Amino acid sequence: MDEKISTYSIIKKFLQNISCSPLRITISMVATFLNKLLDFLPEMFIGMSIEIVTQKQDSLFFKYFPYPVKTQLLIFACITIIAWILESIVEYCAKYSWSMLALSIQHNMRIKLYEHIQSLDLSFFEENHLGKITSIVIDDVNHLERFFDRSLMELLKLIFGSIIALVIFFIISPFITLFMLVPVPFIIFLSRFFHQKLAKLYAQTRTQSAIMLSHIATSIAGILVTKSYVSEKKELQTMILEGEHYNRLNYAVIKTRSLFIPSVRTSIVIAFVGSLVLGGYQVSEGTLSVSLYSILVMMTQRFLWPFTELPKITDTYTKTMASLRRIVAIFHKKGKITDGSVELQPKTMRGDVIFHNVSFSYPSNIHVLHNISFSIPAGATAAFVGSTGSGKSTIAKLLLRFYDPDNGVISIDGIDIRSFTIDSLRGAIGYVNQDPFLYDTTIKENIAYGTPHSDFDDIIRASIAAGAHTFVTTLEDGYETGIGEGGQRLSGGQKQRIAIARALVKASPIFIFDEITSALDNETETFIQQSLNEIIQKKHTTIIIAHRLKMVQSADIIFVLDKGNIVETGTHQELMQRDGIYKKLWES
Ligand SMILES: Nc1ncnc2c1ncn2[C@@H]1O[C@H](COP(=O)(O)OP(=O)(O)OP(=O)(O)O)[C@@H](O)[C@H]1O
Ligand SMILES: [Mg+2]
Repeated sequence: MDEKISTYSIIKKFLQNISCSPLRITISMVATFLNKLLDFLPEMFIGMSIEIVTQKQDSLFFKYFPYPVKTQLLIFACITIIAWILESIVEYCAKYSWSMLALSIQHNMRIKLYEHIQSLDLSFFEENHLGKITSIVIDDVNHLERFFDRSLMELLKLIFGSIIALVIFFIISPFITLFMLVPVPFIIFLSRFFHQKLAKLYAQTRTQSAIMLSHIATSIAGILVTKSYVSEKKELQTMILEGEHYNRLNYAVIKTRSLFIPSVRTSIVIAFVGSLVLGGYQVSEGTLSVSLYSILVMMTQRFLWPFTELPKITDTYTKTMASLRRIVAIFHKKGKITDGSVELQPKTMRGDVIFHNVSFSYPSNIHVLHNISFSIPAGATAAFVGSTGSGKSTIAKLLLRFYDPDNGVISIDGIDIRSFTIDSLRGAIGYVNQDPFLYDTTIKENIAYGTPHSDFDDIIRASIAAGAHTFVTTLEDGYETGIGEGGQRLSGGQKQRIAIARALVKASPIFIFDEITSALDNETETFIQQSLNEIIQKKHTTIIIAHRLKMVQSADIIFVLDKGNIVETGTHQELMQRDGIYKKLWES
């Protein structure tokens, strides 16, 4: 995920995904400019007051307000109050506008990123840890908000302020203006130098922070195992080591960052002292008035002092670019499973499933399926049995297009499944996977997860067929019972039955049941087997994957898998007559 991406493509991708109105950006920029312009008024006012008091009738102000000095000062005081209030209003507008912009950037970016992540193949989630993905979607996107909320406004203030100050300087004394500019290249050089150093360090700290997050997420998710194996100390030790590494990286950041500010300050002070002395000479020679000199000295502060903020701005910019780089790296990931254009219609499709010479290996290059061919006629029930790791679940995942085969063709109703839109293909298949996942919500919502508009009667019917209704009704809140994260308030068998009900309520033309009775007792298994037979009744093509052969004996066809090959095919009776793997499995 940390591949090299150019700054240009980072900014381009960023702009494509924030969908901000140009009007809001313009308002924010104009408000910032006005804010900075008005911010210079106090210095001008002080200079003007000195002019009024020292020059009296010769002052510039007298030209426009020819009153006695005291009245002039009162008029001037009123103008100052109005300008001050105006500055406060503009400052409020600028801050509000940038904050709103930052908020919408954060929101839009997070939603687009989340949408993109959802579109990625399963292999992305297998390669990248949950903690790493979460930290990008949460922390890195928050960094963007922080940058736009504060630092960008500071940066623009610095740029606008420098331009305004330079113009005023130039009007007062072009010679001193040139002197003022001397430290600027040094400051820019220092900023670049530290920016490069810090960028590397920030990337390392963020990676380390994601590693820590992954560790915390994993060890808390696996707290049951940690406790039962009394591994708390071991987990804590790992956490301490990771935390220490994180601290070491942060020490390096602090050391580098702390050097930056003094370096910038040193180069600024030279220009400050220079303007003080050179301006003083000009006053003593009579080429510069006292009022302009006072404006100049204060303006020097105004021009150069904000540059001390540059390290902070560069710091946040560097952090933001590191975050943006990680965000864009996810955007650069593209799902290899491309969408087709044909809509698979559940109402009119038949449900013939054919695998023709299908070979497949996972990205980690494990050869899993070798040239597999089989055919399941519409409405038939096919079973896959075989030793663990022989490739049974992989067949189901290929049919759902979680992965595409390396070779061969999988078709439904004679059409290559790659031609179908992924949504319509998956929508036509009711899938209960081997390790069903339940959401932290009510039983009712879990059953209706794929069909949120289903009637409560349909939910109950599916629940009865899945053997879940009886236990659900014994719960205090029945179908409204919350089941906790991952369904942890339910037993393994109860979870399995809710997952079966979730698939049944979908009433898809094709069903895949992968080890759905592994956690059930014999009696419940028999019950589910019978109710499934009633539902299926040659109306649904059904794939049953099972270790427990009781589930598969009534199947129309059974495929026996061994190390990624189909080694036996037939009905239960046919296979029992052969002295093959199936018979051995049945007898064991
Ligand atoms: N996501 C994955 N990445 C890499 N290898 C995988 C992945 N999923 C499964 N495998 C490997 O592919 C092989 C077949 O796995 P599969 O899950 O299809 O087996 P199975 O027949 O369903 O086994 P079981 O009966 O234990 O469920 C196994 O060797 C497994 O290690
Ligand atoms: Mg399996």
